Amino acid sequence: MQDVRGPVSDRLLAAIGARPVHALVNNAGIGAPARPLDSVDPTTILDAVDVNVVGPLRMAQALLPMLLAAPTPLIINVSSRLGSLTAQAAGDFADRRTSYAYRVSKSAQNMLTIALAQELAGRVRCWAVHPGSLTTAMGGAGAATAPWEAASRLGRLLDSTDTASPRYLSLDGPDLRW
Ligand SMILES: NC(=O)c1ccc[n+]([C@@H]2O[C@H](COP(=O)([O-])OP(=O)(O)OC[C@H]3O[C@@H](n4cnc5c(N)ncnc54)[C@H](OP(=O)(O)O)[C@@H]3O)[C@@H](O)[C@H]2O)c1
Repeated sequence: MQDVRGPVSDRLLAAIGARPVHALVNNAGIGAPARPLDSVDPTTILDAVDVNVVGPLRMAQALLPMLLAAPTPLIINVSSRLGSLTAQAAGDFADRRTSYAYRVSKSAQNMLTIALAQELAGRVRCWAVHPGSLTTAMGGAGAATAPWEAASRLGRLLDSTDTASPRYLSLDGPDLRW
């Protein structure tokens, strides 16, 4: 398995070779236990940024030549609605206990998506995608969507011909506010 905290492995690059890559989906992500400020471990934030933000950057850097060889390439960074600065500032999730590490890293990941979209405009579409509330290890108590269902919806997204970039969309509702 590729650990996104380090350089993209020679093994993965050899498996891809010079073939065009139509879509890069950066799904790997971590969170941290929600704690009040006086007990937040700062390393949890650094760790989450390493995986959730720098990981997708490393993957995009390494795969860019193969993405550019595809006709309508797409980078999807699996984000979260909890990364929305607009929604968080409005208090939309004030009733939820979410770690500093997760909120900080997912909003930073959204900025990465925007920065990539701006640099790669007209060449690679870059989207942030909230997968829904999933019944996974990371999912919350009210999670309702099975991971296979989210994967299936995301798979259909890969066929989209929408040229908008950046986009911040949800697999179970309308587009989100950054
Ligand atoms: N669950 C939800 O309700 C929800 C909601 C919004 C967004 N998301 C996002 O959806 C994505 C998938 O989350 P999930 O719910 O499926 O969580 P999960 O069950 O905890 O799975 C996380 C995945 O990330 C991988 N991963 C973690 N650290 C990695 C690293 N350093 N290098 C490579 N892979 C690594 C894990 O691999 P291993 O199993 O090998 O450790 C695992 O496959 C995440 O980006 C998450 O933020 C989830």
